[in-house]
Amino acid sequence: MIVPHATDTPAPVRTVRAVRAVRKAVVPAAGLGTRFLPATKATPKEMLPVVDKPAIQYVVEEAAAAGLDDVLMVTGRHKRAIEDHFDHAFELEQTLAAKGDAVRLDAVRDPARLANIHHIRQGEPLGLGHAVLCARRHVGDQPFAVLLGDDLIDPRESLLSTMLDVRDRYAGSLVALMEVPREQIHLYGCAAVEPTEDKGVVRVTGLVEKPSPEAAPSAYAVIGRYVLDPAVFDVLDRTPPGRGGEIQLTDALQDLAAGGTVHGVVFDGLRYDTGDKADYLRTVVRLACDRDDLGPEFIGWLKEFVAGLDGREGSGRDRPAA
Ligand code: G1P
Repeated sequence: MIVPHATDTPAPVRTVRAVRAVRKAVVPAAGLGTRFLPATKATPKEMLPVVDKPAIQYVVEEAAAAGLDDVLMVTGRHKRAIEDHFDHAFELEQTLAAKGDAVRLDAVRDPARLANIHHIRQGEPLGLGHAVLCARRHVGDQPFAVLLGDDLIDPRESLLSTMLDVRDRYAGSLVALMEVPREQIHLYGCAAVEPTEDKGVVRVTGLVEKPSPEAAPSAYAVIGRYVLDPAVFDVLDRTPPGRGGEIQLTDALQDLAAGGTVHGVVFDGLRYDTGDKADYLRTVVRLACDRDDLGPEFIGWLKEFVAGLDGREGSGRDRPAA
C-alpha cells in the first residue's frame, strides 16, 4: 500500500544521535516468500530488488540512520544470499578497484559497512514472535528495535529515530501505528488506544492480530517497526501459537499492553509495502521516480506510457510506449 504524505512540506532528513539506550536492531527474514513464487524459489524475498538495492538493504540503512550499529538478521533456509550481501565480496571489489570504478566499488562495499551485521537461523518457521524470541541471547537485557522487511519507510522519514526518542521518555515497549482504511485492518495487528499528553503518542490498551473490520478495536494498524523491552522475551516464551498456528508477536505485546507498558507512535508519512505484488510494483515505480539519476527520464517515459494506456487497462497487449 502506498500511503500519500499528509502534507507537501519536505520530510525531515534523518539524523544520527551519538548515544542511545537502544543499540541493537533485529530484522526477521525467515519468511518463505510464497506470494512471490517462483521468484522466491531460490532467492529470499528480502533480496528482491527495489530499483537497484535489495529490499532488506533499505531496512538496514534505516536502522543505521537511526544510530543502531548492531543488526541481527533472523534468517531461515535459502538465506545465504542475505549473508553474502552484507559481507565483503573480495573478488568483485578487487576487479572494480583495478578498473578504478569507485562508484560501483562503493555500492558493493556499502552493505557491509552499514552496521555490525549478525545472522542467526530460526530453524523452524513458527512465526514472528518465535523469530523475535530467537534473538534473545544476542539482544540480552537491553531494549531493542525490530524492523520488518516487508515494510519500507521512505528514507526521508524519521519514524525509527522518533520511536527511539519516545522510548527515552516512556519505558516499556513501542509499536508504530498507522491509520488504514477499515477494510484493510485484517491484514495487520490492530491496537486499541487512548491518547496521552504527547501529540503522536498513544497508550496501547489492547492488541489483536489481523481482526475482521467488525472486530477491530480501531483503524490503527501495527506497521513493521517496534522498540521492545527485553521483558517481551519471557512473555514470548510462554505465548502459545495464535492466529495461523504461529507464535504471534502481537499476542505477546497484548500481554504487555494489559500491564500498561505498551505505547504507540502514530505515523502518517510515506510507507511502502513490498510484501504484496501490486504494492511492490508501486514501490519500485515510486522510488525510481524519486531518484535523481533515474527519475527525470523515467517520469517522462511513465507519463507517455500512462497516456497511451487510456482506457485500455488490463489488456496488456498493446504497448503504448517503448
Ligand atoms: C506482521 C505482524 C502484524 C503487523 C504486520 C506489519 O504480519 O504479525 O501484526 O501488522 O506484520 O506489516 P505479516 O504481514 O507478517 O503477516
